Amino acid sequence: MKLGVASAVLATTARSIAQSPATSAIHSLPALPYAASDLAPHIDVETMNIHHGKHHAAYIAKLNEALATQSDLAKLSLDALQGQIHSINDPATQAALRNNGGGHWNHSFFWSIMTPAKDAGKPSEKLAAAINEAFGSIEKFQAAFAEAAMKRFGSGWAWLIIQNGKLKITSTPNQDNPLMKGIVSDAELGKPLLGLDVWEHAYYLHYQNRRADYITAWWNVVNWNAVNALLST
Ligand SMILES: [Fe+2]
Repeated sequence: MKLGVASAVLATTARSIAQSPATSAIHSLPALPYAASDLAPHIDVETMNIHHGKHHAAYIAKLNEALATQSDLAKLSLDALQGQIHSINDPATQAALRNNGGGHWNHSFFWSIMTPAKDAGKPSEKLAAAINEAFGSIEKFQAAFAEAAMKRFGSGWAWLIIQNGKLKITSTPNQDNPLMKGIVSDAELGKPLLGLDVWEHAYYLHYQNRRADYITAWWNVVNWNAVNALLST
């Protein structure tokens, strides 16, 4: 989804104002790397448009608002910010950065590890070997990942991470993620390779309360080429 010209001008103007004089890392909504309709029927176009254009955009707006008083954190990349949120002493500011900085990182990552089903590819030999070593088989991995996604009570995420060179499945509540040192437990820290949004806003329009069906369908649009690349970098 692309911004219209007027919206792009407004966004640029807003960014220029917001960046002056102290901030150089005000965040903006990344374009989807495919059309919002391209993940259908597994994820419907209406869900994608609202999820990306409303929910993700709202996280970014609130993140920028929170960063307006945090000149040091505002200079950080989105990746680096995740590991510094714990250092904020004011509880309200920390919560705003945790929820909205996490929301921005998580959704940016989520779009990047999905792709139209026809382009999904498959796990590389290296990834398949790592999955087999950690979980026994691809099928067992998918079952364990789905279980983590199903067991996440309320809103949150299921993750496949690399931790100390090994693959591991974890789950975080709300918009926490495996990069949030000092916020999530050390056992949940690592480099994400996959992340699945199990907030109701990610699936309720199409799947209603059938989270399990959403998880099953989601595998069709996992961008294995992107996951393979993440494993190798
Ligand atoms: Fe979401």
